Amino acid sequence: MHDLDAHQLDALWMPFTANRQFKAAPRLLVGAKGMYYRSHDGRTILDGVAGLWCVNAGHGRDEIHAAMMQQMQEMDYAPPFQMGHPRQFEAAAMLAQIAPADLRKVFFTNSGSESVDTALKIALAYHRARGEGTRTLLIGRERGYHGVGFGGISVGGMPANRKVFHGSLLPNVDHLPHTHDLEHQAFSRGQPVWGAHLADDLERLVTLHDASNIAAVIVEPMAGSTGVLIPPQGYLERLRTICDRHGIVLIFDEVITGFGRLGTPFAAQYFNVIPDIITTAKAVNNAAAPMGAVLVRESIHDAIVHGAPGGAVEFFHGYTYSGHPLASAAAVAAQKLYARDGLLTRARREGLDRYWEDAVHSLRDAAHVRDIRNLGLVAGIELMARPGAAGQRAFDVFVTCYELGVLLRYTGDTIALSPPLIIERGQIDQIVDTLRKALASVA
Ligand SMILES: Cc1ncc(COP(=O)(O)O)c(C=O)c1O
Repeated sequence: MHDLDAHQLDALWMPFTANRQFKAAPRLLVGAKGMYYRSHDGRTILDGVAGLWCVNAGHGRDEIHAAMMQQMQEMDYAPPFQMGHPRQFEAAAMLAQIAPADLRKVFFTNSGSESVDTALKIALAYHRARGEGTRTLLIGRERGYHGVGFGGISVGGMPANRKVFHGSLLPNVDHLPHTHDLEHQAFSRGQPVWGAHLADDLERLVTLHDASNIAAVIVEPMAGSTGVLIPPQGYLERLRTICDRHGIVLIFDEVITGFGRLGTPFAAQYFNVIPDIITTAKAVNNAAAPMGAVLVRESIHDAIVHGAPGGAVEFFHGYTYSGHPLASAAAVAAQKLYARDGLLTRARREGLDRYWEDAVHSLRDAAHVRDIRNLGLVAGIELMARPGAAGQRAFDVFVTCYELGVLLRYTGDTIALSPPLIIERGQIDQIVDTLRKALASVA
C-alpha cells in the first residue's frame, strides 16, 4: 500500500541522507503512536531517538492533535509582522514561565538553524544598541553543531558541514577546542571529571582578539549531533565566568537539551549555569509542526527594543512563519501536556536517568564498543571504526537495529540514543538488548 514507484523515489532529494543507498532499500515510516513507529512493511518499531530528539511526549498525542484541529478551523494563518494572533502570545508566556532566570523574552522561528541565526543576530544587535558595535566576533567550538544556516555552520565545528562552503563562511568567527578526550574521559558516567580547563582557551581568544571585538560565545551545553559529548564538570561554569569578565554574550544552543531531555526544562537549570540567550526548536511543540524559539534575557531585549526610536521596527529580523498559528497551538498544547505529566523533570524525578545510565553502560563489554557516554535520557555509544570506512559499522548497527525493531541514530561511529521522555524501564531494556544483539551480529 505504501510502496513508492521509481518516479516518486527519484523526485525527492533527501536531507543528510545517503540518497542512492536509501533509495536502493527504502526505510519508510507510515504511522506512530506513543513510543512506537509503524514501518511500511507493517512492523512495530520502538523509537529510541524521539524521532530526531524532538518528540519528547511520544507520538500522536490526542491533546496536541485536538488543539491543532481547532486552530485550523478557527484560523489557518496570520501575518506575524505588525500583526498578532493569541496563540503565539500564549505559547511565548508558557516558555517564559519555564525559562531559567530572566530569559523571558521569546522570539519564534521555524527550526534550530533559524534559532541559531536569530540568536547570533540578537547578540550583534545588543552590542550595537549599547554603543559597542565593534563587538562582532562570534566564537563557536570545534565539533559544535548549530544547524545548517551560514551562521550555524560558521560557528559550528563539524568539518563535513563546513568543507564545501569554506569560502563563504562568516569571516569573523573563531573556535574553542572541543571537550572530548577518551584518554581522560572514557566510560565516564555522567559528566567527565577531566576537562574544565579547556574553557580557559576563551581567555586566550580574548587576549588574541581583544574583548572589545567579541560579541558572543555559542556552545551546546551538551553536544548531541556531533556524537553526544558531555561537558566536563566545571567547564560551563568557567565559560560563564570568563564571558562575564569580558562582557561577552553566552549563548547555549539547547535545540537538543531543551524541554526535559536532561530531567530539567533546560540544560541551563541542570548545570545551574545561566546563559544570556537560549536557542530551542526540537520538542517545543513535540515536533507536531516546524517551530523554534529563542529565549532572551530581559536586559538584552530591552537594550535593543528600548534603544530604538519609538514607532520604528526595533529589530530587522523575522520569518513569514514566525509563531505560525498551527505551530503555536501545538506548542501551547505540548507545554500543557509536559506540565500536566511532569515530563520535563521525569527523567530525574523517577530515577529513570540512573536506570538509563546503568542500562547503557552494561554495553561496555559488547563487541566494537570504544566508549559510552550518558546524561539525562541521552546516551552515546562510540564504536571502533572499521579501518578506512568511518561510520560504516555504525550504519550497519543502525540498519540491524531497525530490522530488529528499534530506531536509533548514528553520527560518525557513535550511536546516539534519546528516547521520548515517556519511556518505561522495560523499553529501555529492549533498546539495550537490541543494540547488544546488533553489535554482536555486525562485522
Ligand atoms: C544543537 C543544535 N542546534 C541546531 C540544530 C538545527 O536544528 P534544525 O535541524 O531544526 O535546523 C540542531 C539539530 O540537530 C542541533 O542539534
